[in-house]
Amino acid sequence: MHPLLSLCVFWLLPVALTLEEDSPLDCRPRRSVPYHRDNALLFREDGVFNYSTMLLREDLDLLVLGAREAVFALDLKDISKKHASVKWEVTEEQEEECKNKGKDAETDCKNYIRILHKTEDDRMYVCGTNAFDPECDYMSYADGKLTLEKKGEDGKGKCPFDPFQKYASIMFENDLYSATSMNFLGSEPVLMRSSPVSIRTEFKSSWLNEPNFVSMTQMPESQFSEDGDDDKVYVFFSETAVECDCYNKLVVSRVARVCKGDLGGLRTLQKKWTSFLKARLDCPVLESQLPYIIQDTYRWCDPQQRWKDCVFYAVFTPQSDTSDLSAVCAYSVSDISRVFAEGKFKTPVPVETSFVKWVMYSGDVPFPRPGACIDNAAREEGITRSLDLPDRTLQFIKDKPLMDQAIQPIGAKPLLVRRGATFTSIIVNQVQAADGNKYHVMFVGTEDGTLVKAVNYDEEMFIIEEVQLFETPEPIKILKFSNITGQIYAGSDYGAVQMPLATCGRSSSCMDCVLTRDPYCGWDKVDRKCVFLSNSQRELIQSLKNGDASLCPEADPIKPVNRSIWPGGNLKLRCTAPSNLARTVWERDGNPLTPAARLQFLGDGLLILNASDSDAGQYRCLSIEHSKADEYSTAVAEYQVSIGAVGTGGGTPTFEAQVNGPSVAGLQVVIALLVVALLALFAWNFYKGHIPLPWNCGKKTRQQSQVTSEQGDLYQNAPRPALAEDKPLVVGTDNGRSNNNHAGEAASGAAEENEDPMVNLPTLKYIDDESEI
Ligand SMILES: *[C@@H]1O[C@H](CO)[C@@H](O)[C@H](O)[C@H]1NC(C)=O
Ligand SMILES: *[C@@H]1O[C@H](CO)[C@@H](O)[C@H](O)[C@H]1NC(C)=O
Ligand SMILES: *[C@@H]1O[C@H](CO)[C@@H](O)[C@H](O)[C@H]1NC(C)=O
Ligand SMILES: *[C@@H]1O[C@H](CO)[C@@H](O)[C@H](O)[C@H]1NC(C)=O
Repeated sequence: MHPLLSLCVFWLLPVALTLEEDSPLDCRPRRSVPYHRDNALLFREDGVFNYSTMLLREDLDLLVLGAREAVFALDLKDISKKHASVKWEVTEEQEEECKNKGKDAETDCKNYIRILHKTEDDRMYVCGTNAFDPECDYMSYADGKLTLEKKGEDGKGKCPFDPFQKYASIMFENDLYSATSMNFLGSEPVLMRSSPVSIRTEFKSSWLNEPNFVSMTQMPESQFSEDGDDDKVYVFFSETAVECDCYNKLVVSRVARVCKGDLGGLRTLQKKWTSFLKARLDCPVLESQLPYIIQDTYRWCDPQQRWKDCVFYAVFTPQSDTSDLSAVCAYSVSDISRVFAEGKFKTPVPVETSFVKWVMYSGDVPFPRPGACIDNAAREEGITRSLDLPDRTLQFIKDKPLMDQAIQPIGAKPLLVRRGATFTSIIVNQVQAADGNKYHVMFVGTEDGTLVKAVNYDEEMFIIEEVQLFETPEPIKILKFSNITGQIYAGSDYGAVQMPLATCGRSSSCMDCVLTRDPYCGWDKVDRKCVFLSNSQRELIQSLKNGDASLCPEADPIKPVNRSIWPGGNLKLRCTAPSNLARTVWERDGNPLTPAARLQFLGDGLLILNASDSDAGQYRCLSIEHSKADEYSTAVAEYQVSIGAVGTGGGTPTFEAQVNGPSVAGLQVVIALLVVALLALFAWNFYKGHIPLPWNCGKKTRQQSQVTSEQGDLYQNAPRPALAEDKPLVVGTDNGRSNNNHAGEAASGAAEENEDPMVNLPTLKYIDDESEI
């Protein structure tokens, strides 16, 4: 981490902590995994950005990735391998025209790939914004080449004009369903099926009112249907509420659905959906007055179960900037379907001349039920297509597409609430754990480029870990999961990454493995490793609901590290807890230590100041973590401290401890800056005449910087310094896969001497103190 960045983190920290402590809602990740190139495989190409469209072609072993002006065909098993790519650039003419319409040439007037679907003949359908003039084309992959057929189909209504506008689409039985805006200004929203007969939404604010489309999915509801029901397409979005009696604009989340077989009405609703129904979607986060806004959904279906058991997982963020909570709510398809099939409608009632109020409609509902798909009951009346629907039914749905009842999440509350980086995307995977139960694991992408992995255990929200996927914070724009490879794929403006469902090797001890409560991981007693459950034939130790680590065998004893110190000197003994939920305590010769003026407890270690003979002894750092089952303590570091004798037992005096530390360069930069600043200050003062004879200032500064860079342990009094440095809280041992040579030591907590790469604010204070000596 850059020193200046660590300063920022340090300053923000106390604020973040207070917020956390105030809220009972907040759920903190047990483990924060900082960026490391082994966290995920990366694909990016120089000069290409906005990797935000993905199509899994498991049949071809490909991940097809859409970016700005390019499509890539990547190896599904290792996306850092590119098999093919094709450019789709806007022409100079198109760019010019777009510029002339007042759009930005560098950002808007490019071709952003927005739609990628597989067609039934195994080709692909692809659309791009094409400099605010959307266009679609067919693309095929053969002989290791991606080829665009240059069909130049009009993309209006299929793909957004504006690359910053949200949209949704699916290809279902070779028909493209799209939810986007039809015009240049982005003011004409539409939910449309493109072929064979184009059917779309009525252009009316009661149908769609400034919507932000989020996602779309189909549901095979005709399967085993006793009523002869039709398959449906669901679309999730947020929009300005028409039904709100409020002065300010209020945004609500919605789910809408249409029937696959809808052909529109004969006279009323000609070439418009006759089956468009929508309902409000609630995700009640405590403490929140305003409804939360939907950002992404994931359809989870058990392959062994019927569609009624499918669940939609959705991420929500607040509508006001004053909150930084994000949430995940889950909705059962049968709940949604029941509201549409049986629920009451809302109807507009004019109150004053120009004002309508939306209230529950309690009058007669015509037959066939407005918005229903053509089913057996309708067929019995001779209505076999939507074209046969009576005007009364059609007029009803034209005026009242909104359901009265809102859809509540399963359990009537969120599965996960988290303060911090805004959630952007979600996928969910089911895993059978060692206890035989199946768990749904949520993988949530954030604005900061992290992936949050969480499970809701019997209403207990638990974040297993949060992994930084990109070197710099980059919003995750898209998440996909392949059942074939068992890998997660994430895209951002910067690049695309791929990672496994779990990296069990991040836990190096049985206790850590069990307390992580990761359903994919268990402790192998024979190999003494935390391993991926489905890769192991042995019985593994796992305790998901309680975090019961009492089953763990005795941990390996840790190797003590010898340190020695001069009387009157300072020494820092490093120790980092393996988990954000653990705290550390220290023992000397078996007796608990309490903090004192000369003995300071830091988040990442113990600081001994002005050492004396009585400070010699055996120091142990214990990590104490509380789980439902018990409180567990485990030794994470041990030091044998001797006084005075340089080199005794291989110990290194503190003063030389870390000349070769990894961030000495950074330290030198800070010192150099400091020197320059001081010199400037002195010069200015001298010029102003505040200091008459600055004989020694240059010399003094130089001396000072030497002292600092030779000084062993830079220390500070920050309450939680662990987060302010570049050393991972936990680094995976990765079963030897890791290229990070610090991995092992960090995990065991007994970091070696020359590794205290800490430069943050209190250092400056420290240097001040030195100069006073
Ligand atoms: C595309 O990526 C660039 C570079 O990260 C970013 O500045 C821009 O906002 C992105 N554009 C869209 C439409 O997301
Ligand atoms: C996912 O894969 C598992 C086994 O690999 C299989 O049993 C299951 O049916 C697959 N699910 C889907 C939706 O393809
Ligand atoms: C260090 O400790 C000694 C006694 O052990 C004491 O005399 C001295 O003043 C202390 N120095 C500082 C700077 O506190
Ligand atoms: C630490 O010092 C002890 C003697 O005090 C010695 O037996 C031991 O080998 C030393 N350990 C290391 C790692 O140098």
